[in-house]
Amino acid sequence: MKILFSTDTQNPSSTEILFGLLELEDQELLKRLNSTLFPVAYESSFYNQLFSSSVYFNFLAHTKDEYVGLCSLKIEKLDKKAYIFTFGIFPNLRGTGLGTFVLRTLESYLLNSFNCSFIGLHVHVLNEKAKLFYVKNGYNIESIVDDYYADILSPSAYFMSKELKC
Ligand SMILES: CC(C)(COP(=O)(O)OP(=O)(O)OC[C@H]1O[C@@H](n2cnc3c(N)ncnc32)[C@H](O)[C@@H]1OP(=O)(O)O)[C@@H](O)C(=O)NCCC(=O)NCCS
Repeated sequence: MKILFSTDTQNPSSTEILFGLLELEDQELLKRLNSTLFPVAYESSFYNQLFSSSVYFNFLAHTKDEYVGLCSLKIEKLDKKAYIFTFGIFPNLRGTGLGTFVLRTLESYLLNSFNCSFIGLHVHVLNEKAKLFYVKNGYNIESIVDDYYADILSPSAYFMSKELKC
């Protein structure tokens, strides 16, 4: 993992949070950590895609003692757009504001380092907690996509997005 930047201690964990970029050799670590964050098991092809080119980024936020959160996303540099595939905070740290802090820190990084002005993502329609979380962080529900998820009983998702501004 390559450390990209660190924050000061002015965050809900009251300790420095480091933001690292996972590299190909961290693929198994990402799989293992994602299995503790998300109720679905992603296929190997998903992980292969996430490490397949320089448009994909897998961020791991952590303190010196523990993992805080993970985010896998794609950046379309020419269109100045980012798309979040997965975003999660480790279960023992949820509900303390760390999700908001990590998301806002990543948004600033995308804006300042890549000039991204738009972030999109999909959220399962039954994932009320995540929907509320994104709404609270300025994301709008743009549409409902039927059959977004394959092979599950309730496959619909909200497409949500946010304009990023300086
Ligand atoms: C969604 C998620 C990232 C939020 O992270 P978090 O660290 O708990 O978020 P915060 O503490 O910053 O909470 C921000 C807001 O989210 C909502 N929220 C967070 N936890 C909640 C809970 N347990 N119940 C209801 N709403 C909740 C609230 O609106 C909260 O604001 P409040 O604390 O002022 O009431 C986290 O719950 C998570 O990792 N979930 C599993 C993975 C997932 O579903 N990811 C999203 C789809 S990829």
